[in-house]
Amino acid sequence: MTLLSTVICQMLVLTQSFGVNAYWLMASNNVLTTQRMDPIVSPGEVSSHVHSVLGGSGFDLNVNTSILQGSECTSIPVQEDKSNYWFPTESNRRNDGSFTSVSGNAVIDTSNSTTAFPNNVRDTTLRTLNASSFAQQAITFLCLQFSGTSNRYNELPIGVSCPAGIRSQINFPSCWDGKNIDSEDHKTHVAFLSTGPDNGTCDDPQFPVTLPRIFMEVYWITQDFDDQRDQALTPSQPFVFANGDPTGYGYHADFVNGWEDGVLQKAISGCTCNPYGDPTCCVDAGIFSFNQTKQCYISDTIDEPVLGNLSTLPGANPVQAPCFESYIATSTPPILAPVYTFTATASTHLPSGTVVTPAHTTQEAQTVVGTCIWRGAALRNWDASICLRVAVALVHMLWFLF
Ligand SMILES: *[C@@H]1O[C@H](CO)[C@@H](O)[C@H](O)[C@H]1NC(C)=O
Ligand SMILES: *[C@@H]1O[C@H](CO)[C@@H](O)[C@H](O)[C@H]1NC(C)=O
Ligand SMILES: *[C@@H]1O[C@H](CO)[C@@H](O)[C@H](O)[C@H]1NC(C)=O
Ligand SMILES: *[C@@H]1O[C@H](CO)[C@@H](O)[C@H](O)[C@H]1NC(C)=O
Ligand SMILES: *[C@@H]1O[C@H](CO)[C@@H](O)[C@H](O)[C@H]1NC(C)=O
Ligand SMILES: *[C@@H]1O[C@H](CO)[C@@H](O)[C@H](O)[C@H]1NC(C)=O
Repeated sequence: MTLLSTVICQMLVLTQSFGVNAYWLMASNNVLTTQRMDPIVSPGEVSSHVHSVLGGSGFDLNVNTSILQGSECTSIPVQEDKSNYWFPTESNRRNDGSFTSVSGNAVIDTSNSTTAFPNNVRDTTLRTLNASSFAQQAITFLCLQFSGTSNRYNELPIGVSCPAGIRSQINFPSCWDGKNIDSEDHKTHVAFLSTGPDNGTCDDPQFPVTLPRIFMEVYWITQDFDDQRDQALTPSQPFVFANGDPTGYGYHADFVNGWEDGVLQKAISGCTCNPYGDPTCCVDAGIFSFNQTKQCYISDTIDEPVLGNLSTLPGANPVQAPCFESYIATSTPPILAPVYTFTATASTHLPSGTVVTPAHTTQEAQTVVGTCIWRGAALRNWDASICLRVAVALVHMLWFLF
């Protein structure tokens, strides 16, 4: 709780409309909740890994735009933006195998569609870089220095010091097929611009509709762990995302539109008065209201600890690189309802729901094998085929030996 309350959330919404750029920044007032939930990928159930969520208090195991528009409050300063934005939580991994959550935050936006618009790069299983993939170019990490300078990486920076923290950044696809509000893999209904995640046009006839450009930055307070590097399992790069990704290639973020009707469109066409993203003029122009002190929290739906010191990542996700194998946890925590909303600072005396789905266990086989368990620095440019060849070679060797 204390860790997350120090999060610096910065939200950047960039829109392009033929020469005139509407552009404004939103630094989230607080993190709405941190839980093992993902209403896009795992609606109605406990998701495989933890996300930090910003935005409207209507967030739950199932969301849609009308639910979010009815939110009692939002953790985003633009009071008309009750959308939800979420991203995997990051942890520091110690040499005793335990994890401590790192504080962090996010950013986003979409077209003026009035329906849920879950559009993102989301291959949470990537552990290697394909430099020619726009989806992977869309994800970058900055190693921040006090001087304000920074180096940019395609992965969590290895073997360098980032005294002002690490910023993960993601561009959302800007071209839409104009028809589907979602797709089975949650990404094929949208595409990137023609020449990269942040430039070009929507010239593919299958994806002709230009969406507002969305760029999300998360500031991770990783410097809190710099003096503990000697106690890290892998001191050169001790951080791991909630999906068990120590590389950053499987980083992702999501968005469900909850903007009040018409406000986003007004902002896109009218919020062009400040080239540096200061939203004050949009407030002065009556486009939206802005409150940087109002807090918004919700009570937990998934009854399990997810912050602070933990012996495993929630969901027992194994840390895997350079290959990835799917993993199913044997136990699932209880689900609570209803959800309570708080507009003041979260205290330890918040009411919480009662159990509606008890904890349960499954007998499903675990599939992660030794070759996928990460023990050291992330290897670049290893692909799944190399991983497979190593595995096959090991099997052959064992077969030969016995
Ligand atoms: C959103 O979800 C609520 C509750 O399940 C439902 O009543 C409503 O019809 C949904 N709205 C849309 C636009 O799908
Ligand atoms: C890398 O990305 C490019 C562009 O999306 C794609 O054509 C290619 O098949 C990818 N390579 C691998 C090994 O996945
Ligand atoms: C597009 O973006 C790429 C990568 O950021 C950059 O190298 C290139 O110069 C950009 N092109 C234009 C036209 O801005
Ligand atoms: C969305 O944009 C279109 C065209 O720009 C406009 O006609 C429509 O009213 C907008 N809808 C909303 C809900 O803002
Ligand atoms: C912002 O929200 C706080 C807390 O709800 C409230 O006290 C304050 O008056 C609001 N400020 C503005 C400018 O609306
Ligand atoms: C986590 O454990 C470390 C090492 O034992 C300790 O220094 C730290 O205070 C703990 N943090 C929390 C949030 O409990």
